[in-house]
Amino acid sequence: MRNRQATQLIFELSRPGRRAVRLPECDVPEQPLEELVPSRHLAGEPPPLPEVTEPEVVRHFTNLSTLNMSVDTHFYPLGSCTMKYNPKRNEAMASLPGIVDLHPYQPDETAQGMLALLFALQEMLAEISGLPAVSLQPAAGAHGELTALMVAAAHFRNRGEERPRVLVPDSAHGTNPASAKMAGMQAITVRSTSDGFVDLEDLEEKLDERVAVFMMTNPNTLGRFDGQIVRIAELVHERGGLIYLDGANMNAILGKTRPGDFGADMMHFNPHKTFSGPHGGGGPGAGPICVTRELDPYLPRPIVRSDGERYWLEHSSERSIGRVRSFFGNVGVLVRAYCYILSYGGEGLRRVAEHAVLNANYLLSRVKHFLPVPQGDRCMHEFVASATPLKQQKGLKQPAMDVAKRLLDFGFHAPTVYFPLTVPEAMMIEPTETESRETLDAFAQTLFRITDEPAELLREAPHTTWISRPDEVRAARQPVLKWEPTRDATGDAQR
Ligand SMILES: Cc1ncc(COP(=O)(O)O)c(C=O)c1O
Repeated sequence: MRNRQATQLIFELSRPGRRAVRLPECDVPEQPLEELVPSRHLAGEPPPLPEVTEPEVVRHFTNLSTLNMSVDTHFYPLGSCTMKYNPKRNEAMASLPGIVDLHPYQPDETAQGMLALLFALQEMLAEISGLPAVSLQPAAGAHGELTALMVAAAHFRNRGEERPRVLVPDSAHGTNPASAKMAGMQAITVRSTSDGFVDLEDLEEKLDERVAVFMMTNPNTLGRFDGQIVRIAELVHERGGLIYLDGANMNAILGKTRPGDFGADMMHFNPHKTFSGPHGGGGPGAGPICVTRELDPYLPRPIVRSDGERYWLEHSSERSIGRVRSFFGNVGVLVRAYCYILSYGGEGLRRVAEHAVLNANYLLSRVKHFLPVPQGDRCMHEFVASATPLKQQKGLKQPAMDVAKRLLDFGFHAPTVYFPLTVPEAMMIEPTETESRETLDAFAQTLFRITDEPAELLREAPHTTWISRPDEVRAARQPVLKWEPTRDATGDAQR
């Protein structure tokens, strides 16, 4: 049965005078507030806080926490986002008092353990990426993209070259062109072939001395590894440009190949996808970047340096683009990534990639029989199916959305839909390496069952969730993020 408390605002549960805690009478002489705080800083009336009992607070928030799906409660095949299970030991390590009680203003000598950890992480990421210079500062993948493009811009400025353009394949994540724009550059789209690979002819046509960077996601957002990468890197380098590797899909190639070895000059990691870290909710996140030795001087500072015995923060460098994040970035997320890498080791990371690819191919081999997968029979860590046939079969206008919504009724989080834009009615499915065969089978069976259901069931799904079909455009454009009391004509707050 639906719990009414979970859908009421805590303000609606409020009753005047209700309390969770009653403090004893004050036994020191009271001083008028005005003597303690200048009156201009005093509010005219108390804030309209909810007045509730302790069980009401506990039940309210516990119930709210069950309304959403999460990786800890459900299979979450949200393509491109890599919603894999995060081992709890990494959470425990990141919560150790020696880590959470550190203050970023502490002198380096008193934070040697943390600096050693961050230095080791820099080295690990350099080894995994094949790119020797690392900045741990950016706060997310998209922030890493922006930072790397600023590094590239500084590099070209220093060489006296004007290169205002960034090339981006049409299958790229939206953050790629957005980062180019934020870095003050112009994003130009490069077409993909029907196989989902970069159209080399189109690339060559657009590649000239105005191009600073070609941003590439490999494996790409269709879950395909573009084997032309070495040729692409040659073409871009011949014309003086740089290759940026969007590392969102690194979980597919960990320990198998390295971006630095196949021609990338810069890349970001999404530690929450490739390693371990909380997803979503606006952060905190991290998006470390790795670059070639040549680009090192332009990286943001501080960077952890070491002489083998001591560790210190190098705060400035003449050509650095400066700081892109306060203090040292979101260290807690970096600690989780460090623990993850250390606990798997090189061989373990390779197996992570193998299982991510195996799971995706297993699911692809089942799904392709009832939903076409236009880019073929094989994939890396994810694949993109198309729900287009359901348009004709069932008269549905937006079948990918309808199927995604119906999956929620069966306790599966929806795949990513309508991305990449190159596949009509796209359903991007990424099972990740942490799922069992039984879970993959259950998902495939449910998906098959849904494609066989009557159209009305799909059109109105989900039927079991608290909110069925919110107006997503309005929610994004006019979000109402806080509750405010309405006031009656006398100015009294109404709840
Ligand atoms: C391919 C790709 N690139 C970049 C990003 C942006 O990463 P972040 O969400 O960490 O900013 C994402 C996020 O999903 C992605 O899938």
